[in-house]
Amino acid sequence: MNVQIVTTPVQSTGADWLIVGVTEPPNFTGSLKILDDTLGGRLTRLREQGDLTGKHADLVAIRDAAPASARRLLLVGLGKPEELTLPRYEKALLTATRHISEKKCGELAVAMESPANSKLGPVDLAHTVAFAATVGGVGQGLFKAEPARFPFDKVSLVAGAGANVAELTTAAKQGEILGESVNIVRELVNLPAGELYPESFAQRAKELATDFGLGCGVFDENWLKQERMGCMLAVGQASDRPPRLVVLEYDGAPGDSRRIAFVGKGVTFDSGGLSLKTNENMLTMKCDMAGAATVLGALIAVARLKLPVNISGYMGLVENMVSGNSYKLGDVLRSRAGITVEVNNTDAEGRLVLSDVLRYAVDEGADRLIDLATLTGSCVVALGEDVVGAFTNDQPWCDDVLAASRRAGEEIWQLPMFDHYAEQLKSDVADVKNTGTRWGGAITAAKFLEKFVDKRPWVHLDIAGPAYAGSSKPHREGGGTGCMVRALVEVAAGFKRA
Ligand code: BES
Ligand code: MN
Ligand code: ZN
Repeated sequence: MNVQIVTTPVQSTGADWLIVGVTEPPNFTGSLKILDDTLGGRLTRLREQGDLTGKHADLVAIRDAAPASARRLLLVGLGKPEELTLPRYEKALLTATRHISEKKCGELAVAMESPANSKLGPVDLAHTVAFAATVGGVGQGLFKAEPARFPFDKVSLVAGAGANVAELTTAAKQGEILGESVNIVRELVNLPAGELYPESFAQRAKELATDFGLGCGVFDENWLKQERMGCMLAVGQASDRPPRLVVLEYDGAPGDSRRIAFVGKGVTFDSGGLSLKTNENMLTMKCDMAGAATVLGALIAVARLKLPVNISGYMGLVENMVSGNSYKLGDVLRSRAGITVEVNNTDAEGRLVLSDVLRYAVDEGADRLIDLATLTGSCVVALGEDVVGAFTNDQPWCDDVLAASRRAGEEIWQLPMFDHYAEQLKSDVADVKNTGTRWGGAITAAKFLEKFVDKRPWVHLDIAGPAYAGSSKPHREGGGTGCMVRALVEVAAGFKRA
């Protein structure tokens, strides 16, 4: 996508579509005044009829807008200016760009004006418009003969005559980079398990890492055996697709000895194993590698933005299947950390994979860790489908992650980690068992992981709800969402404390 800042007057952009924001109630100043005049008072009439209200994310399309400005005009409601936050602006712009991208659009223009009384500045707007145009133009119809959505070739952000074009260009480029990383994660999550399995995912990660200048190592099942990753290997042993560990490396701060680790659950398909899932629960389990995809997407963005920080990414890739060689209920596994684990449920496989990969990251010298995993249905019950669950053994580090998520506009909520939750994990035969009771299941999963991070500052993000959307909404496509890419990039950008 070619994004540019233009300072041509709004009435002469000449694009296929021009998007203009309208506040509630509609107030015709700036671009809207100019367009209303050029269209002979048409916007005024729409407002008088009650068809143009400016309600948040309401769309009014004028398809024969020429000769005013563009061929077509899309008026998008921004809601009340005093309630206009960046996430609300983004939601409105995603709704608008998704509407337009259902048909081929050569050039899209967007009038960028900070609505009166709103707190949003031009840099925020440029960043958000570029992000929305990048994400809104891409759908999940990867295998459709007739495309259902068309990415934009060219997007012009129409800024006022006195705009700082260089500054806005940088902001727009950053928004586009984030949007492209989100799209990479969405596509990986949307690929079916028949296409994306540990080896093919690792191959794709290697290609992307090479393209964007990240270090990348791919380690096979023999290496995993040598490294004593008994839990991860057990999960993968029934599959015809052998497991892989991908290690990504970004060194943006050579003088700094500190290193963050991003660790992702990459279960390319979760059948549940012998604790087999129902058809309904298994249906979307190609999404169970979203954590690993997010690690990859975030590191690509961090590298492209050249952030001054050192980060390693770990992607634990494995398929949880059923065969004569399945790992079984009652099996006792020996984890890399030396902790023995009694298997009570083969569907609690994500924590087994993460236990070994987290420990490997610790052994490799990570000072701080963040893991991302579609880990528990229980977290979705607790927080709903759109909010990420956060868990930690180190409140200051968690506060950094929560603040970064807030800056990125991603919804997240911390759940408690009281010691007594771990009592559910006591085993009679081994050091720990892999599941507790139904109650507090997202937390007992986190308490399980905590045992493997050797008291290093660590935040666990359960993305089981937000990583995958069951259905489309006007502002967002169903399927993989790319959630937390921007939050992780914000964590990296904000990592300056001594
Ligand atoms: N991958 C699932 C969790 C999940 C559920 C992700 C729904 C996305 C949407 C995970 O491996 C799992 O099966 N968890 C079990 C844990 C239970 C056996 C303790 C669950 O949540 O039911
Ligand atoms: Mn499972
Ligand atoms: Zn799973």
